[in-house]
Amino acid sequence: MKRTSYVHGYSVREDKRLEDQAKTLAELLHGDIVYPAGSRVLEAGCGIGAKTVTLAANSPAAKFLSIDISEESLQKARQLIQSKGLTNVEFQQADIFNLPFPEESFDHIFVCFVLEHLEAPAEALIRLKKVLRTGGTLTAIEGDHGSAYFYPDSEYAKRNIRCLIDLQAKTGGNSLIGRQLYPLLTGCGFRDVRVTPKAVYADSSRPEMVEGFTKNTFTAMVEGVREQALSSGMIDEKSWEKGIADLYRTSESDGVFNYTFFKAVGVK
Ligand SMILES: C[S@@+](CC[C@H](N)C(=O)[O-])C[C@H]1O[C@@H](n2cnc3c(N)ncnc32)[C@H](O)[C@@H]1O
Repeated sequence: MKRTSYVHGYSVREDKRLEDQAKTLAELLHGDIVYPAGSRVLEAGCGIGAKTVTLAANSPAAKFLSIDISEESLQKARQLIQSKGLTNVEFQQADIFNLPFPEESFDHIFVCFVLEHLEAPAEALIRLKKVLRTGGTLTAIEGDHGSAYFYPDSEYAKRNIRCLIDLQAKTGGNSLIGRQLYPLLTGCGFRDVRVTPKAVYADSSRPEMVEGFTKNTFTAMVEGVREQALSSGMIDEKSWEKGIADLYRTSESDGVFNYTFFKAVGVK
């Protein structure tokens, strides 16, 4: 089985984190994506629909099919889309590694924050490419935890982030995948691949970024693996708490946080 266990889990807190992340990052990461009228778009690994909302609103005349392996997440995604009055999205439970669609059936594919969780991201891309029509595009967006740097700097905070990277690697994922999107897509036969780094920068002159990204997205994500990090013995509790406190410290009035996402677009 190629799917890996999802390191962040499916908790209410994780749902809230994904929502906050989507609100804060929507414009930066995919606010510019407009799919042509009538095009069929596959969103692979839609989760609770946090990205679906912006995608569907920005391309009201495109038809989206948003899939996820988790029926529970799909239920939430359906409710979210309904609550926004959007009618151009259908949802279906499906596994990226076993897609129940004919070859060449989509004009475009969108996949965000999914490849990092998969043991075999290249195979996932090849499966997705099969159902994409020739000439269609695949957009992949991923973060890269190695791109996080901040002020005040802290070895403790860096150790906590390392725990998250190692835990994700243990479950077969790769939270440093952002820097690999170019070789991954070109290696899978996509052409004209263009990668755009998207930097998130937060200091107290941008309070919405401090709240939405430094605290509620990045630090919340690291905090989310506390139990796994402690129970695996990779770090002791005191060091962990200091690392989390130091991450929060970067959200104070003189603090700074920088992180880079990568958006890749390739053509079949
Ligand atoms: C971090 S979430 C991202 C959700 C959404 N794309 C977003 O950016 O908010 C990753 C999602 O990928 C889904 N997923 C993981 N493996 C999958 C697979 N093999 N097929 C379909 N979905 C999968 C998970 O269930 C989860 O909802």
